[in-house]
Amino acid sequence: MKPSIWRYVKTPKLMKLMKSLDGAQEITSAYVDEAIERLEKEAKEGVVRPESEQSVLEKLLKIDKKVATVMAMDMLMAGVDTTSSTFTAALLCLAKNPEKQAILREEVMKVLPEKDSEFTEASMKNVPYLRACIKESQRIYPLVIGNGRFLNRDSVLSGYQVPAGTCVSMVPLSLLSSEEHFPKAAEFLPERWIRNATDSNGQCPANDLKLKIPFVFLPFGFGPRMCVGKRIVDMELELGIARLIRNFSIEFNHPTENAFRVPP
Ligand code: HEM
Repeated sequence: MKPSIWRYVKTPKLMKLMKSLDGAQEITSAYVDEAIERLEKEAKEGVVRPESEQSVLEKLLKIDKKVATVMAMDMLMAGVDTTSSTFTAALLCLAKNPEKQAILREEVMKVLPEKDSEFTEASMKNVPYLRACIKESQRIYPLVIGNGRFLNRDSVLSGYQVPAGTCVSMVPLSLLSSEEHFPKAAEFLPERWIRNATDSNGQCPANDLKLKIPFVFLPFGFGPRMCVGKRIVDMELELGIARLIRNFSIEFNHPTENAFRVPP
């Protein structure tokens, strides 16, 4: 937002940033190289996996090694702390709201009756409260502040003419805690994401807590450039949280006012 001194002088902060980026690149490329080596060794040994069991990396390698490597590194850089922070936020919300945790456990017990019950595709379609808990924790502890896009055509936004090529930042962060969009915004209420059951007259009563404008809540962005990892994240969070809640009672007995903060 300010004139960028770092373009002309290598400031200590720039050096620190570059060092961190180099570190992230080294770690991710080491993992990707290791996976490529393993796949190449398996190919030499004649191991053939059906398409459905091949990894994204394995499929991309057949098209272009460089693209495959960069994609796999991107996925590690974009996918590790994002998922773990979101996972932690969901657990924190459940720990702080034991009555909601109990409702969730009741739902999970139905799909995982035994301690070691297997997840099935069908069972995971039947967990609306789990999905609602995850969404509600993403509202309370949002990972991203919003999205950005370069306009590809001249547009009118809120009455302003904005020319093509302009970078537009959409930052709905404060709306996520506004009463206007989320009644009882300070409370962890997964119920706001649940469609009300149909009553005996076949009517579905309105859920007063429900969000009216879906674009206010886009934790994974929207459109062709939305998060490519969303489905992986959904699966990781749903399976991980269901398993934990099934087998453990989650508590967190420490202060949580600044549970997440951006380091200075
Ligand atoms: C809870 C976890 C995550 C959240 C909340 C999240 C959120 C986001 C958001 C908001 C965007 C920008 C979307 C837009 O501008 O419309 C994005 C992009 C992206 N995400 Fe994620 N992400 C998560 C996990 C992951 C994972 C696990 C992966 C990889 C396996 C991943 C890979 C990517 C990539 C590659 C992009 C760039 C897509 C593009 O520009 O076309 N993310 N993510």
